[in-house]
Amino acid sequence: MSYGLTVLGSINLDLIVQVAALPKAGETVTGGAYTALPGGKGANVAVAAKRLGAETEIMAAVGDDDYAAQALVNLDKEGVYLDAVRRVDAHTGLAFITVSEDGENQIAVASGANAAYAPADVPKLCSDVLITQFEIPTHVIESALEGYEGFVAVNASPVRDGVDRILNRADLIIVNEGEAAQYDLKSHPGLVAVTLGSKGAELRKDGKLIATAKPPKIDVVDTTGAGDAFAAALTVALAEKQSEQDALEFACAVGALTTTRLGTQTASPTRAEADAILGR
Ligand code: RIB
Repeated sequence: MSYGLTVLGSINLDLIVQVAALPKAGETVTGGAYTALPGGKGANVAVAAKRLGAETEIMAAVGDDDYAAQALVNLDKEGVYLDAVRRVDAHTGLAFITVSEDGENQIAVASGANAAYAPADVPKLCSDVLITQFEIPTHVIESALEGYEGFVAVNASPVRDGVDRILNRADLIIVNEGEAAQYDLKSHPGLVAVTLGSKGAELRKDGKLIATAKPPKIDVVDTTGAGDAFAAALTVALAEKQSEQDALEFACAVGALTTTRLGTQTASPTRAEADAILGR
């Protein structure tokens, strides 16, 4: 099955500190190890999809600064098409991420170029499948979707108000439990996937539960980016015409494998790793 996949979304450089326990409000924790890795929900999805075998392009913006090259390095190395990445007059998106020993995280994003991204920067969509998320302006996504007739997957993260038009157009919505509680998705006419952390995920169609899946047993190092990898894998699997049950199991496995290594893109599994853990 041949199809093209476009990711419309964010690119960040992730500045990661690993600490024993996440700081509480007003607390300072010291002695953590520091790593800078490429991230951003859009770029993470693009790398994950490419590693799973999809021909992938990303439409996004980076800044006019030295961070841009670092943020783009994995996308370039993995062979994601970058012709539609714009350079805008802002700093490249920066995510400040704290990861605890049990793999939980806190993330604060300085959006920079992602927030400066404008409808005029986005070329006409020509691929069969689009994945987007909410780290770029809502009006950019709405404008890109005008007249687009392909399959639309929306990872509705981070939670944002005023996105009903985008959600209504989505063929597939992907959210975690917390996000699901903040949208009204019960009567969504398409597919809605809800991730449940270590408990796995559920898939509903027209409001009815049609599939559940549990992740394989793994040792968690860092949960950052697991949702992005899950979204990429579910979309890729559905585009390949896998059954909804198989697609959900595949996405759970890919999300789980992503938590076994530090970072997001660097932790994203290959197709061979995903197939192997599922015994396919
Ligand atoms: O979903 C994980 C991502 O969220 C990180 O890579 C960070 O850049 C933030 O955008």
